[in-house]
Amino acid sequence: MLSGTLLGAEMLNAEGRVYMGKFLWTAQLNIGIDVIDQQHRRIVEYINQLEDARSGEYSRAEVAIIINELVDYTISHFAFEESMQEEANYPFAKSHKKVHDLFAERVAVFQAQFDQGEDIIKALNSMLVTWLFNHIKRDDVDYVESVKANLQRQNEFVEKKKGLFARLFG
Ligand SMILES: [Fe+2]
Ligand SMILES: [Fe+2]
Repeated sequence: MLSGTLLGAEMLNAEGRVYMGKFLWTAQLNIGIDVIDQQHRRIVEYINQLEDARSGEYSRAEVAIIINELVDYTISHFAFEESMQEEANYPFAKSHKKVHDLFAERVAVFQAQFDQGEDIIKALNSMLVTWLFNHIKRDDVDYVESVKANLQRQNEFVEKKKGLFARLFG
């Protein structure tokens, strides 16, 4: 039954972003920095894999691997974002990192519960969908301007140097 597979009715309201338990990627989740958008999509794929794991066709060991990979990838994504922000002198880099760190702590609690044999996949999945969606829409979009301006400066720098170091770019 449809309602039984939804992660939360409220998630269908404004954005229609969850259907049959799957986190649907929509264009409004793109923040406009390709490399970041690709990473966010990959995280969504992991989240959906975790949802598949609820079907029961996966062993606990396999589910553990999915969770570990999801967490690993997400933490790497955070580190990538943080270094991008630092390089761009994004003024809220510190508080953004704090949000990432808090998330990592929350997930670690779920992982510990899972390791103790608790059935947390549904709750974890639901938290991940809500958290990622809100984080992208509220926090990640905020650094776009700074990071893009920095990328622009870098491009201009390279263009300027091309004249001086023509041999390198020939
Ligand atoms: Fe992100
Ligand atoms: Fe972030």
